Amino acid sequence: MTSARILVVEDDRVVARDIQAKLKRIGYDVVGHTARGDEAVALARSAEPDLVLMDIRLEGNFDGIEAAEKIRDLYFIPVVFLTAYADEETVRRAGQTEPFGYLLKPFEDSQLRTVVEMALYTHGAKRKLRDSERRYAATLSSIGDAVIATDEHANVTFMNPAAERLTGWHLSEAAGGPVINVFRIINHDTRLPVDDPVAKVLRSGFTVGLANNTMLLAKDGREVPIDDSGAPIVGDHGKITGVVLVFRDITDRYQADEKLRKAQQDLNRMARVTAMGELTLSIAHEIRQPLMAVVTNAATCLNWLTAGRENVDEARRAAERVIVSGHRAGEVVNSIRSLAKNSAPEMTAVNLNEAILEVLPLILSELRRNGVVHRLDLSPDVEMVKGDRVQLQQIVLNLIMNAVEAMSATTLSTRILSVTSGRFDAGFMVISVSDSGPGLESTISERIFETFFTTKSGGMGMGLSICKSIVQAHGGDIWTTPNKLGGTCFYFTVPRFA
Ligand SMILES: Nc1ncnc2c1ncn2[C@@H]1O[C@H](COP(=O)(O)OP(=O)(O)OP(=O)(O)O)[C@@H](O)[C@H]1O
Ligand SMILES: [Mg+2]
Repeated sequence: MTSARILVVEDDRVVARDIQAKLKRIGYDVVGHTARGDEAVALARSAEPDLVLMDIRLEGNFDGIEAAEKIRDLYFIPVVFLTAYADEETVRRAGQTEPFGYLLKPFEDSQLRTVVEMALYTHGAKRKLRDSERRYAATLSSIGDAVIATDEHANVTFMNPAAERLTGWHLSEAAGGPVINVFRIINHDTRLPVDDPVAKVLRSGFTVGLANNTMLLAKDGREVPIDDSGAPIVGDHGKITGVVLVFRDITDRYQADEKLRKAQQDLNRMARVTAMGELTLSIAHEIRQPLMAVVTNAATCLNWLTAGRENVDEARRAAERVIVSGHRAGEVVNSIRSLAKNSAPEMTAVNLNEAILEVLPLILSELRRNGVVHRLDLSPDVEMVKGDRVQLQQIVLNLIMNAVEAMSATTLSTRILSVTSGRFDAGFMVISVSDSGPGLESTISERIFETFFTTKSGGMGMGLSICKSIVQAHGGDIWTTPNKLGGTCFYFTVPRFA
């Protein structure tokens, strides 16, 4: 026998007593009774009944319908109305409080029992449904995956917080509208819309996954790479009543993939380069400059031989410079070959200042063409160093070319190249090449000496790596610091000739 706890709200004392007696006879507990609506609400809270039997017409200005509404909203306790009459308006108002039953006075024990049991059963079922809905809502709110549900017309019925975050749409504005407004997806490579997965599921009745490279277009214009699937919600008789989309932000995976692709590309390039031989590349890199000088000087020579403006002395000087550059190209090839063979460079006593001075004529026209002013500050107490003259000159030349390229990439009108030499410590001399260019970004300064690292569209990324291997073969060191004027300062050391 059930012993449900019942609150009786009835303003007719005789009827109230009769109902209580009936309830007890059936085996219910009467946990309280009152004739007033406001008291009924208070008792619902303190006595926590399983059910309230509520007369519609009550004493005071708080009738049974209002009291029932409050009790439902505040405490979720089922209410059964007791009434002696049922006019349409009263039934309509009472109906809005979602009552669990009506009892028309007068009634028998059996009627009372049936209505109470039905109400308790229905309420129990509702509570279970509400609990499970809450459980699902809590679960869906806490998971990291975004979830959007639609009805059978592909209109949004639900979005969890993760879906709101990713799409930029709030459930309140999206609910009831077409899901394609909220879940807009395109293919990353073609930029074309991807087949609407909701329509596909509704059509096929099957779970579908997304193609690779799908980007979600958020409301604020963000593009988020996503991974997703859509599954049908199947109702009674196998009818599809909606679709659930589950998707997640895969930016991290996407970036890792991009990096992998980039690494793969670098690797392929390396493989090609290795096949060609780094030697070939180094030669290509290093003789470009003397070849450019040959061409420029040959053009100058021709110019001085042109009828009407002949100047044999100038023509001769230009032709001599062609020869110097030609020889230099030959020397460079030899020195690189020895460097690449890993045979020790030809270490002789080199006058460092003289070696630097020999480099300058080779790049003067380059400096002039780019509006670069140069300053030389060669210290007289620089001693002889132990090294390969041509290779040391290559370092200086590479650093100067980089400096000129860095400065001509800016709009600055003052372009100052400065080359210095001096003692470093007892065992080493130091040479510096600095510019007034844009300077080195900290993000790349670590990488500039890597082979093939370049930020220039036409760069090979060979210059500094060649410099580094030459310096290392000499037992010296190479590094950079930011230049006080803005721009960059490169230093390298060479051992003294003992
Ligand atoms: N003086 C400088 N100022 C600013 N950035 C520089 C300077 N020198 C070198 N860099 C940076 O270091 C990178 C590597 O230089 P490196 O000389 O090795 O190759 P590159 O000049 O790009 O190509 P190349 O193989 O034709 O020399 C450059 O792309 C540039 O980003
Ligand atoms: Mg360079």
